[in-house]
Amino acid sequence: MTEARTKITLPYLFQKVQKGEPITWLTCYDFPTACLQEQAGIEMILVGDSLGMTMLGYDTTLPVKMDDMIRHAAAVRRGAPNVFLVGDMPYMSYQPSNELAVLNAGRFMAEAGCDAIKLEGGTAMTPRIGAIVDAGISAIGHLGLTPQSVAALGGFKLQGKSASLAKKIADDAKALEAAGAFAILLELVPDRLCKLITERAQNCIIMGLGSGPHAHGQLLIYHDMFGLFPKFKPKMAKVFGNAGEVILNGLKTYHDEVVGRSFPARENWFSMPDEEFEGLKKLLEQESAAAK
Ligand code: KIV
Repeated sequence: MTEARTKITLPYLFQKVQKGEPITWLTCYDFPTACLQEQAGIEMILVGDSLGMTMLGYDTTLPVKMDDMIRHAAAVRRGAPNVFLVGDMPYMSYQPSNELAVLNAGRFMAEAGCDAIKLEGGTAMTPRIGAIVDAGISAIGHLGLTPQSVAALGGFKLQGKSASLAKKIADDAKALEAAGAFAILLELVPDRLCKLITERAQNCIIMGLGSGPHAHGQLLIYHDMFGLFPKFKPKMAKVFGNAGEVILNGLKTYHDEVVGRSFPARENWFSMPDEEFEGLKKLLEQESAAAK
């Protein structure tokens, strides 16, 4: 059961930043996991388009559609009514135009009960951020390793390693803040670049993923934390418990117990009273006699 707690709001998140208290953020894509994250006191949830890889088995996030995102985000909201819920804009749901970006951001709010949206990209995406914020929707930017551009970035690897590339990310962060993003996710950038951007942010919450300890808060991919993504484990992720192993052992035991007839055991089924069972047999006999 989810415990009742106060709804996490934007002012609450900014208060945490002011008090110097790190914000907790995780990805989540389904109802039961959302119930657990709510119960654990996680403050923000990202329904990431990473669900294309973690839940749907694609090699990249690119095939994910708005309808996939809405279905999963709405399920997460049902399980976690009080978290600050962020919907991740999938590939080509915002890039083509401001109008499309506003319409799809609006779907996250109206159809899934999200509190904000996130989209990938720097200065080039500032018109989209501006339009979404002008429509009254809170927006988060995403810099560094942006998985929708993974081919152009040369793979899932550290971004902003050289002075000039780091400067571009720092400039993009300033531009996103100026466009109205209330937060920016820095994914897989060097720790000192993340620290610098965090210190320079004036009215913007900087969240880190694989970018060191200096951001205002941390994001992790839930499946990486619990050994639930079979294809690879990113170096930046810490495994907090191997649920994948626990589940695999349970599945093997189930298989062996069914084959060995030790499951189901007496406590796993229900009986009916003798007289009812005798009555059932009589009814069936009468029916087959009548059919002859
Ligand atoms: O889709 C997602 O989960 C993300 C993270 C990789 C940050 O955007």
